[in-house]
Amino acid sequence: AASGGLAMLGWLGFSWTAPPGGVVALWGIPGGFSWGVGSSAYQTEGAWNVDGKGVSIWDVFAHKKGKISSNETGDLSCEGYYKFKDDINLMKDMKLNHYRFSISWPRILPSGSKSEYINEKGIKYYDDLINMLLENRITPVITLYHWDLPQVLQEKYGGWQNISMVNYFNDFANLCFERFGNKVKYWITFNNPWSVAVEGYETGEHAPGLKLRGTGAYKTAHHIIKAHAKVWHTYDMKWRSKQKGLIGISLTADWGEPVDVSNQKDIEAAERYIQFYLGWFAAPVFNGDYPQVMKEYIGRKSGQQGLGASRLPVFLPQEKSYIKGTVDFLGLGHYTTRYVTQKNYPSGLGDSYFADRDLAELVDPRWPDPGSEWLYSVPWGFRRLLNFVKSQYGNPMIYVTENGVSEKMLCTDLCDDWRMQYFKDYINEMLKAIKAGVNVKGYTAWSLLDSFEWDEGFSERFGLYFVDFRNKNKPRYPKASVLYYKRIISSNGFPNQRELESWKRKATETCSSSNQLLAADPLIGHMEMVTEIVIPTVCTLCILLSAVFFLFLLRRCL
Ligand code: NOJ
Repeated sequence: AASGGLAMLGWLGFSWTAPPGGVVALWGIPGGFSWGVGSSAYQTEGAWNVDGKGVSIWDVFAHKKGKISSNETGDLSCEGYYKFKDDINLMKDMKLNHYRFSISWPRILPSGSKSEYINEKGIKYYDDLINMLLENRITPVITLYHWDLPQVLQEKYGGWQNISMVNYFNDFANLCFERFGNKVKYWITFNNPWSVAVEGYETGEHAPGLKLRGTGAYKTAHHIIKAHAKVWHTYDMKWRSKQKGLIGISLTADWGEPVDVSNQKDIEAAERYIQFYLGWFAAPVFNGDYPQVMKEYIGRKSGQQGLGASRLPVFLPQEKSYIKGTVDFLGLGHYTTRYVTQKNYPSGLGDSYFADRDLAELVDPRWPDPGSEWLYSVPWGFRRLLNFVKSQYGNPMIYVTENGVSEKMLCTDLCDDWRMQYFKDYINEMLKAIKAGVNVKGYTAWSLLDSFEWDEGFSERFGLYFVDFRNKNKPRYPKASVLYYKRIISSNGFPNQRELESWKRKATETCSSSNQLLAADPLIGHMEMVTEIVIPTVCTLCILLSAVFFLFLLRRCL
């Protein structure tokens, strides 16, 4: 019922058209559409203390016991730092148009500050990566902040709680424009600032692990929005005319659908869900200020709690005009949907971002849920979200910067038909939105490789490629979805139902043979152990024994 009946729903001033059925291709749509995959530095690079890299808040957080599932860390991860050439070859084989990755701030500025020390080895790593991408005609799309703040800045200033981060981040970004900007034309300031604010400073599940309930997230977001705006202006004033690139922000949001569309309270609760999620960041960068509903709710609750001012910080008039319009394109990350209903949180129960929204989230137990606990596959929510962005923010240029699905660590089956299904359904909804006029210019599958999934460690795999983390060489194996995505790319969408079936069949054939390779892998690992540990140990023992025997003979002769 949700996808059909509710499809005609009109709220928040955007109107909905009935979804066209079937599968869709992009042929005939003017302008090249860009297909890519994504990753981030801490999740994939490893080499956490190599070649002069400084320590980030994620290095420190992951090294603390009890923070990450099974106490895993990103110390080694996929060893992307060493294996980037192999990875680019994988991308080349998929005929990708772009690769989205992030720069580790402490890898190039170990103490966070440009005035102290620039790590040229770190610069060289990213330079080589960019060069090789360009040689292979893959466009680099660079995220400047994918969560790995230099630890020094956390310790000295309290990280994003402190306004001084704005200038530090601007210096770092400026250095990146200076060193890489002649080759890089797509920049993303922040990845998913919602997560940084809420999980880093409110719930403490992510680095730096602070639990500043009711205030930490709002303050963090306030500084991040200012930092984003400053970097956009820096690019605009200093670099744009020479480098001719684009700079945006990547916001991640679930879709929120009212449980009962005939209930005004549910409709308003769903609106709050989206405004507190996407609108919190999107409204300032597009319109200059926080969503009205956030100002009202947080302001009222702060008053009831006896506070003199709202826990939501305020932008001054000149700040509003400085922040407004600081997006050349909107990066959009999207994975899942929730049903939303009204629920009152009395103010005595303690402040929190979650209580401020006065709502409850629900899921439909029939929604497929193959991997991460939170990730239900609800493709129609994606099109709702894209339409929402179009109608709320003046039809901006959108790049989908993340979309994908995970499986559990224990799952070593490379025949990931649920992922093929997820990509098919979500991409199809996006293509329908494009045909209906939403200005989406690119799509980025998350992610190229299985990698360190933050507080979940390696227990959730989002990769198109399976990574065998037990093997010290971290070999990559294609899942069936690699071939499937490759076909989507070469067809610019979906040609017809019949062909889709044959893609699936072929992908399933190839994954079965890769499965056999993977099954043989423990054997390979075992053989490696024989050559690297057992043989040298036996040889050393032999030498020692012969020496003892020789000494014994010598004593007897004498
Ligand atoms: C969003 C984050 O940006 C990314 O790092 C993470 O892997 C995915 N979500 C999946 O949880």
